[in-house]
Amino acid sequence: MSEEERDTQHLPAPSLWPIGFAVGVACILVGLVISVPALIVGAVIALVFGFLWVRDLMRAHPVTAAAPGAPAAAPVVTHADVGDNVDRATFLSLATIGVSGLIGAGVTLPVLGFGVLPSFVGDGVETHDVDLGPITNFPEGQYMIATYLENPEQGEVSRRTAFIRNNGSTDAGVPSFTAIFSRCVHLGCPVQPNGPIDEQAKQEVNGVELLPVLAASFGCPCHGGLYDSEGNRSAGPPVRSLDRYEFSIKDGNLILGRLFSVGHVEGVGATARIQKYYMAYPGVHVDGIESWLYPIPTPGSTG
Ligand code: FES
Repeated sequence: MSEEERDTQHLPAPSLWPIGFAVGVACILVGLVISVPALIVGAVIALVFGFLWVRDLMRAHPVTAAAPGAPAAAPVVTHADVGDNVDRATFLSLATIGVSGLIGAGVTLPVLGFGVLPSFVGDGVETHDVDLGPITNFPEGQYMIATYLENPEQGEVSRRTAFIRNNGSTDAGVPSFTAIFSRCVHLGCPVQPNGPIDEQAKQEVNGVELLPVLAASFGCPCHGGLYDSEGNRSAGPPVRSLDRYEFSIKDGNLILGRLFSVGHVEGVGATARIQKYYMAYPGVHVDGIESWLYPIPTPGSTG
């Protein structure tokens, strides 16, 4: 092989794959800040273009062996022909891709662990069924402040507060309750009912304290968040409506079940239409364009 031919072999093939790979890495970094979907798209782009880049490199520097019975005059390119320079270039390219991949994985995996896993393992608020006692303790049309221990073994740290209103019955004759969780959906401060509390009528049933309140709205003392009587955000920094509990009635007792998040509530009481979502952290949008723009994955709607 002449010197000229060897020079021609050494020229790297022009390729857009590194640019695509860099775009993918940039998308990953941007996605880490603003959006998990952007992060996933970036990872896919980086993987695809990285693969094409590696494949291109292999093709650009073929290493072939002489086939048995090949004509003696046929050109054969071997490691020795390709030379040290080409090996070094290939090695550096592959090393760049490998190190970039390792750095990307090192940055991405911990963030994914903290950002995505919580949506599969819960949001840190345990929810067990809680028996609030006979439904006759809940006068129709009035909110009751119910405080209880979520987990008696953990003691006071598991104390929770719910605002419960007996809405009477739906058109189908099914008992209806509004059961609102007191945690503010801005940053998690305890929300307070705005209205007079009847301390004289306080009662305790099976460790659950019930206190009647005329709640015209709910307010958060931390940053001025305000919610209407259905838990819809009225003012301030909260990003959605107050979270609610599922409920059931067993043997005449009101049972609080799982928590869920709420986009918006239309109407009031027994005829209200509730946009229900899987439980999300405070500060997380559950619907609208904002749910795509912020890093914590928005759980899907459950109807
Ligand atoms: S935590 Fe409630 S308004 Fe900020």
